[in-house]
Amino acid sequence: MKILAIESSCDETAAAVVEDGRKVISSVIASQVEEHKLYGGVVPEIASRRHAEAIVPVVRQALDEAEVTLENIDAIAVTYAPGLIGALLVGVNFAKGLSLSTGIPLVPTHHLRSHIASNYISNAELKPPFMCLVVSGGHSHIVMVEDYTKMKIIGRTRDDAAGEAFDKAARTMGMSYPGGIELDKVAEKGDPFAFKLPRPVVHDAPYDFSFSGLKTAVINLIHNAAQKGEELKKPDICASFRYAVVDCLSSNFLKAAKDYNVNKLVIAGGVSANSLLRSTLKNECDKLGYKFYMPDKSLCGDNAAMVGSQGYYEFLSGNVAGTDLNAYATMSIE
Ligand code: KG4
Ligand code: ZN
Repeated sequence: MKILAIESSCDETAAAVVEDGRKVISSVIASQVEEHKLYGGVVPEIASRRHAEAIVPVVRQALDEAEVTLENIDAIAVTYAPGLIGALLVGVNFAKGLSLSTGIPLVPTHHLRSHIASNYISNAELKPPFMCLVVSGGHSHIVMVEDYTKMKIIGRTRDDAAGEAFDKAARTMGMSYPGGIELDKVAEKGDPFAFKLPRPVVHDAPYDFSFSGLKTAVINLIHNAAQKGEELKKPDICASFRYAVVDCLSSNFLKAAKDYNVNKLVIAGGVSANSLLRSTLKNECDKLGYKFYMPDKSLCGDNAAMVGSQGYYEFLSGNVAGTDLNAYATMSIE
């Protein structure tokens, strides 16, 4: 079964053709990031306008590269939540129009579920149940994936998402948006023990995260040094901060796995591209005898291939929308 998938939740307009949830036939991503860099973050109105311009050529290119026409498409999967509402509406309305004019069923797909599904593309043998750490620019969750379309949140951030904390720390060091990627690279040359940063815990919620205190600590460290005219080594700040974030993420995740008796762990979302997070969890899981899966780095960020994968399982579970489908800025993954 071939699915045409459409993603427009943030600053990437993307379309893909995916077969049976696992085989990517084509995947096209038009990123707006260079434009948003000028403003230090995503400007929602600009994002919507760029999606409106890009959606037709991106979908056409995805069909062309897959060497198919709409006649060969069995379902249209589209990200309908969560995300920037004006951005989501472009993809949703386009998909609705396409579905209405062709009669092809429309499958509403949750963005974070799609991030998890990127793992089905990268890891052929992976099947639920498993526990997944979903870490992106807007969310940080520990999710029990009981089945392809049945999820339970075990832990979540109480304030900033991990990606957001990375981006804000990076911005304080003069790196351009989204700074998480550059911070990760610069950290490779630094000493993770150079600065002692806090490991905030949430009382009575051992699997929840809190990154705002950690973010403030690193920002204060940088500002205080600047006031005193001291020059701190950027690689050391990056390495210490990255180590602190990864330590919080991996220790809660491993604790949740142990307490819930789960030995199959998965990571997903933009921050799952972080090299320290990947190596730390791989090593820890090897030591514990757990199975560990991660998406290919090319599938960690926003893309439509993952929407085509999750959309397949949503379709199989009977999740088909009518023409009254709406978009939602927030929606639980459950
Ligand atoms: O999943 P994603 O592409 O978009 C959302 O759904 O939010 O995640 C984007 C986030 C950004 O905050 C970006 O800085 C972060 O993922 N990110 C990273 C890395 N690559 C992307 N953070 C840390 N290390 C990385 N290598
Ligand atoms: Zn995302």
